[in-house]
Formats: sequence, C-alpha cells, structure tokens
Amino acid sequence: MSEWLRIALTKGRLQDKSVELFESIGLDCSPVRNPGRRLIHTLPNYPLDVVLAKAPDVITYVEHGVCDLGVVGKDTILEKGGAFYEVLDLGFGRCRFALAVKKGSDFYGTYKTRRIASKYPNVTRTFFEGRGMDVDIIKIEGSVELAPILDLADGIVDIVETGATLRENGLEPIEDVAQVSARLIVNTASMKLYKNEITDFLSRVEQKLGERA
Ligand code: PRP
Repeated sequence: MSEWLRIALTKGRLQDKSVELFESIGLDCSPVRNPGRRLIHTLPNYPLDVVLAKAPDVITYVEHGVCDLGVVGKDTILEKGGAFYEVLDLGFGRCRFALAVKKGSDFYGTYKTRRIASKYPNVTRTFFEGRGMDVDIIKIEGSVELAPILDLADGIVDIVETGATLRENGLEPIEDVAQVSARLIVNTASMKLYKNEITDFLSRVEQKLGERA
C-alpha cells in the first residue's frame, strides 16, 4: 500500500506558486486554495497531506520528520541551516540577498567597524567573514530599510526582489550576497523509508520543471 506523505508549504508568497506547480502535475489542491483557518489539508486525489507553516518552521518540521517534504526559500535555508536533503530548485520565488546602503554613501571608505542591520544575521555574518571584514550585526524583525534611514546602521543585508523598496527609501544595492529561490527539501529518513512514493512525487515535479525551462 502506498504511504501517505506529508509536505510543509511556506505560507504566503511561496504558497500560491507551490499550489500552481502541484496542480500542474495533476494534484487537486482545492482544499489548500480555500484553506479557511485550517492548517493541514488532505488532497482528494493524491496521497499527500499539506501543512501550511512559516518558513523557518517548514525546516523544523522536515528536520524532525513530522513532515516528509517541504517547500522553503533558499534565504531561510541559508539562515537556519539544518539536516535535510535539498533536492530541487523549484524556480519560483526568485530574488537575491544584497548589501544595500543609503544612496551615494561610501560604505567602504572608512576604517571604523560598520553596523549592518538584517533579518538574516547568519547570512550577514557569513558574507562579511568571507570578506574578512569585522562588522557589528543588529537583528531587525522586518522593514529593515528603516535602519539606515534612522541612522541605526551603515547598511543592510536583505532580500531584494524588484528593488522598489530600496529605491522608495533612498537606498541602493552595492553588492550581491546570494541568489534565492524556492527549494524542495526532504527528510533524510523519509527519503529511505518512502523511497518509491517520494521518487514518484519528485519525478512528476522534475518533469514539469523541465517542460517549463
Ligand atoms: C521583503 C524584503 C524587502 C522587500 C523587497 O520584505 O525584506 O523589504 O520584500 O522587495 P522589493 O525588492 O520587490 O521591493 P517583506 O515584504 O517580506 O516584509 P518585511 O519587510 O517584513 O521583511
């Protein structure tokens, strides 16, 4: 008998794109399209339960094996890390991490330790360590663009998609830090235990991504 799999989807921006992809491989995702306040949904025509969760929690659930699969952004993977297989780049949710500063400011033109604000302190630390640069990192929970405007920080490391938020707040990107897109992740034990079921799912998704490319 086929094992029933469970997948955690990142709520919000990645959710709609994930649902579109799954529908394109023949999964009836109507329960996820009209979720109400329910957080777990059983698909009517494929042995899969869909769990809706915040991005870092997708990784937690997959790492602990309470979800076999997950869809999560590379930004969260880079920040949080963890033990799981990252098996596919799903191609949507494309954006980048960038270092941005107040327009016209000379970020590198001083010897004093720079202050960097970010929602992603680990990504920021790794980037500046790679440069051999000592920086003070201030963790901000959202709308990080405020930090340089308020003179709390010399720069930010943040997600840039269209660049509109930076532009409209008088900031400009000066360095690319990392490319980001949605990834499919798999629990390491599930990959062995439910090899056939997971391979079936992965090959359907992979074939569709190939057609899109
Ligand atoms: C993200 C990011 C930027 C913005 C970038 O914020 O932190 O603020 O999107 O997008 P853009 O380049 O298309 O303008 P999000 O909307 O996720 O909210 P947050 O500020 O709470 O992080």
